[in-house]
Amino acid sequence: MKRLFSGAQPTGTLHLGNYIGAIKNWVELQNKYDCIFSIVDLHAITIEYNQKSMREKILDLAKTYIACGIEPDKAKLFIQSQVKQHTELMWILSTVTPLGELNRMTQFKDKAKQHSHNINLGLYSYPVLQAADILVYKAEFVPVGEDQIQHIEITREIARKFNFRFNTDYLPEPKELLSKGARLMGLDGDSKMSKSKNNFIGLDEDEKSIMNKLRGAKTDPARIKRTDSGNPKICNMFAWHKIFSSEEEQNKCSDGCKTAQIGCVDCKKILCANINKIIEPIRLKKQELDKDNDYIIDILKNGAVKCSNIAEETMIGVRDILGFNI
Ligand code: TYM
Repeated sequence: MKRLFSGAQPTGTLHLGNYIGAIKNWVELQNKYDCIFSIVDLHAITIEYNQKSMREKILDLAKTYIACGIEPDKAKLFIQSQVKQHTELMWILSTVTPLGELNRMTQFKDKAKQHSHNINLGLYSYPVLQAADILVYKAEFVPVGEDQIQHIEITREIARKFNFRFNTDYLPEPKELLSKGARLMGLDGDSKMSKSKNNFIGLDEDEKSIMNKLRGAKTDPARIKRTDSGNPKICNMFAWHKIFSSEEEQNKCSDGCKTAQIGCVDCKKILCANINKIIEPIRLKKQELDKDNDYIIDILKNGAVKCSNIAEETMIGVRDILGFNI
């Protein structure tokens, strides 16, 4: 089986964008690939965070992965900081990473703006650690949302530079795998759904809370009264319908909107029911898992042992290539 790697940061409850852009895809791919999914705690410390709640957030993310349908018997689940080879490879890769490439990273630019009081080296070299995450397993595929494409591109560039510098083809260049909802816009309709923008629906929300958020979500701004006709093409909620609703429901909302036969609230009620159908089982399964931390810790420890073995095999080769084979 070909190998695939992906991960998410333990920065609090995952949102619908994380699920639809990445995790849903992971669940489908775990039957076809040798899958490794990580909780990337080392990436999460590049911005300010509360160390007292880190453990809880790591466990919460592991439970969310499993509640979403990741099966520990099929996929390896582990905490990034428990496999030391990631940081070792990161240092090595940093010696072949051009600063010019790092300077282009839009995520760095965005985060530097958001956290202007704490622009640290880790935030800048974040993509090199991400490249190491993938390359230490020689993973061929990386299922992510659209916002991560640039990081996969630089991973390919870093692998290429390493191979060229040391005259080898040891590190494969990975490819991103994108899903249908690879860029889910936020409730504001202005930017992608994101924790930092407060424009999200969390995977821990119940139907009432989902509907409350949808009520305030942006639609066609020209449609002020229910009797006004609207334009689904520019309505963010209709873009969501294309992801979450059946074709029949999409037609009902689209035709009804153009002819002012259906109101925005009715369209949002359909969306709410469809989104709740996805989120509710995840929320309930997670509540069940909340009762058994030991089970989760066992899975993560097991995953770390398996991943360390694979990563060490890669590193033996890397050290050899570098001339560190005394
Ligand atoms: P993170 O934790 O920000 O997000 C986890 C995954 O969710 C996707 N995502 C979205 N997809 C669609 N629409 C959205 N609005 C949306 N918001 C987030 C992200 O694209 C991601 O796939 N740097 C990574 C974590 C990472 C990683 C890796 C990923 C570290 N090392 C190696 C892959 C391979 C991140 O911050 O993801």
